[in-house]
Amino acid sequence: MQIAVIGTGYVGLTTAVALALAGHTVTGIDADPEKVAKLSRGQVPIYEPGLEESLRQAADVGAIRFTTQPNESSHADVVFICVGTPMSADGTADLTYVFTAVEQLRAALPVREQARVIAMKSTVPVGTTDRVAQRFADRPEIHVVSNPEFLREGTALFDSLHPARIVIGSASAEGYDVMQRVYETIRAPRLLTTRVNAELIKYASNAFLATRISFMNELARLCDAVGADVTQVAAGMGYDSRIGAEFLRAGLGYGGSCFPKDTAALLRVAAEHAVDLSIIRQATRVNDSQPAWFWQNVREALQPLAGKRIALLGLAFKPDTDDIREAPALKLIPQLLRDGAVISACDPAAVPHVKRLYPSLDFAETPYEALQGADAALLVTEWQPYVQLDWERVKQAMARPLLFDGRNAWPRDELIAWGFSYSGVGRA
Ligand code: UDX
Repeated sequence: MQIAVIGTGYVGLTTAVALALAGHTVTGIDADPEKVAKLSRGQVPIYEPGLEESLRQAADVGAIRFTTQPNESSHADVVFICVGTPMSADGTADLTYVFTAVEQLRAALPVREQARVIAMKSTVPVGTTDRVAQRFADRPEIHVVSNPEFLREGTALFDSLHPARIVIGSASAEGYDVMQRVYETIRAPRLLTTRVNAELIKYASNAFLATRISFMNELARLCDAVGADVTQVAAGMGYDSRIGAEFLRAGLGYGGSCFPKDTAALLRVAAEHAVDLSIIRQATRVNDSQPAWFWQNVREALQPLAGKRIALLGLAFKPDTDDIREAPALKLIPQLLRDGAVISACDPAAVPHVKRLYPSLDFAETPYEALQGADAALLVTEWQPYVQLDWERVKQAMARPLLFDGRNAWPRDELIAWGFSYSGVGRA
């Protein structure tokens, strides 16, 4: 099929490459000429393992191309809208880019016999896809559907090609049919539903996962108080198939481009309908306070903090990405600086982004360099190379053997045997 993807950010680019690999001919459209030029040369402007190789593979066989011209969507059987929906100051999703794309498509898509689909992949407030459909009410061949994405940064391409489910929200049989053909070669359960349901499935999924994390983070505080280990509690809970073992890891809290933004947007929509989603509201509060709660433990162990050298291992909101949006590191750094600590930080991918915000921090190339002379080490992001350290080297490098594991990812018993003082999240 002929597919156009508007917006080649994280979701759009991954979707475009995945659909090209799935056998379609894809045109990626983006307003940014520099980005388009880069992508046309086979270079991926974001950090996502495996994406660049797959892009080149698809480009080599002519399955994908990029342009700045919305008019080049004119032959498309399906146009995916994948533009950003940033959070405004009041928590609402900013839909400017979505409706700009809609107006461009009204002009770009000529009337034709065959059914055509506009598929909303951007995460938009409940009811937005219906509003978009109204803009095409005079074009009966155009079917507007909601087709949310559930991909995770770091495994985005894999998640697109092997999704847990494909959700298609449509008001017409043609909408379902065309979308079923788009995903013909991708094996996954399908849920054919309404547009509003599809939009809400996306928000509810992210809010539920965020709530699970906050549930464990709050429980971790109790674990600390009663001498329990939250990792053991999570392991015991996870064996129950009704609960499941995923997303029960206590730590410094969730960040990234989705959970914080989507929980805020869902709360906003609920408020507009006079519904109080108190559980989700509380989940966001726990998340906001989690880095400060953790830092309090470090502070108590290190008093007084002025002049103490603290190594921050990891800055990205999670491993295998350079994304620092809503990263716990960005909540910790100002607190450490306020307390007069001297920070040495490292991250395999995110340093350039943090450097722009905090140019005067001491950035190290390797964890061992960051740990040199440190009074304490904080594991902020569980990058594999930071989890599996050479502990002998770590011990030699540090001024004091104090380890604070913000992700419960370090081997506690081994570290204690090495003579470190270990403190995790909710591990007494
Ligand atoms: C998430 C959703 O998983 C994905 O379906 C959606 O489309 C976008 O949002 P992403 O933000 O890429 O994906 O990352 P994810 O792996 O889900 O992690 C989100 C955050 O939760 C990270 O900050 C991570 O560190 C944190 N997390 C995750 C925990 O703190 N504990 C856990 O047990 C799991």
